[in-house]
Amino acid sequence: MIKYFSIIMLTSANINPSLQKIESEIIKIFKSIDKDVFDMEKNPFNFMGKAARAKFTLLLGDTLGVKRRLAQEIAICAELIHTASLLHDDCIDDSSLRRGLKTINSKMGPNTAILLGDLIVSFAFDCAMKINPETAQTLVGSVKKMTEGALLEENLKYKKISRAQYDKIISLKTASIFNWCAIAVCSASDKIELIGPCSLIAKSVGSGFQIVDDALDFESENGSLDKNILKDITAGKITLPLILAMNDKACGNKIKDKVAKLQNENSANIHIALEIAETVKTGQFTDEARKTAKSMIDDIAPAMDELPSNTAKDDLKNFIYSLINRTS
Ligand code: IPE
Ligand code: MG
Ligand code: MG
Repeated sequence: MIKYFSIIMLTSANINPSLQKIESEIIKIFKSIDKDVFDMEKNPFNFMGKAARAKFTLLLGDTLGVKRRLAQEIAICAELIHTASLLHDDCIDDSSLRRGLKTINSKMGPNTAILLGDLIVSFAFDCAMKINPETAQTLVGSVKKMTEGALLEENLKYKKISRAQYDKIISLKTASIFNWCAIAVCSASDKIELIGPCSLIAKSVGSGFQIVDDALDFESENGSLDKNILKDITAGKITLPLILAMNDKACGNKIKDKVAKLQNENSANIHIALEIAETVKTGQFTDEARKTAKSMIDDIAPAMDELPSNTAKDDLKNFIYSLINRTS
């Protein structure tokens, strides 16, 4: 079982049993696959990772007074979609480590990882349909956005992109699924009038979460994350710390030259990537990116105020700040 509270100890609501239920339901789905098609016993898989989307859904659900059973079903859909997107992302980036384990693409090849990802997407829609057709319909829209975000990121590789283009990528590829969790859980509550603030909170949490993820790709030492580091830059993905560095008067041109050099190399040159990372860190551009994420979260305070006041909301707020302050 996963240590679910590696990010935060919550004060009141105990979401641990729900997280275990979500994980066991996901394992059950995987076990239902014909072993000739995919044998999960032979391919150990971490189904939940940080479970950020599940925790967000459960805590927002508690705040809105939604039955745990319903919030769990929504969380299962979100975690399945997220897992599928990671299987595909690891093929795109040729990553070898994910959630502390060897990736499916590195063990079984990208074909298996791509197709398994597609299968998992179908499981997610199946689960959403069981909640109700409307929930499945909104999930289709969010998966469409998530995929558009990944495609946009791919199209803009190695380019000197603007902050607005970056915001568009992260809002599509990451915030859209957090937003879906919020819309689905609010729709399951008797407080549908709160859909506006719930959606606003979710979008900021999703984008803030991605900015920190992007900072961590530069900040982390090899082996300190449960996935590969410097993956974004070696794959040509231009994220906020790098955008800030590229726009800097002192080091911008040097960084741009190095990114161009990286693009011209046949295989990603880790030495150039390390040099870029060093400049990004010493210039404190990862800190600046983190500050942006923090102020995005500070800005959702008025929307938070619109939600019912209870201990679950306090836990939700603490959880959101723990996501933004995380160092792994
Ligand atoms: C994963 O994003 C893909 C989507 C969110 C669709 P990242 O590429 O930033 O995730 P990591 O860093 O590999 O975990
Ligand atoms: Mg990635
Ligand atoms: Mg990342």
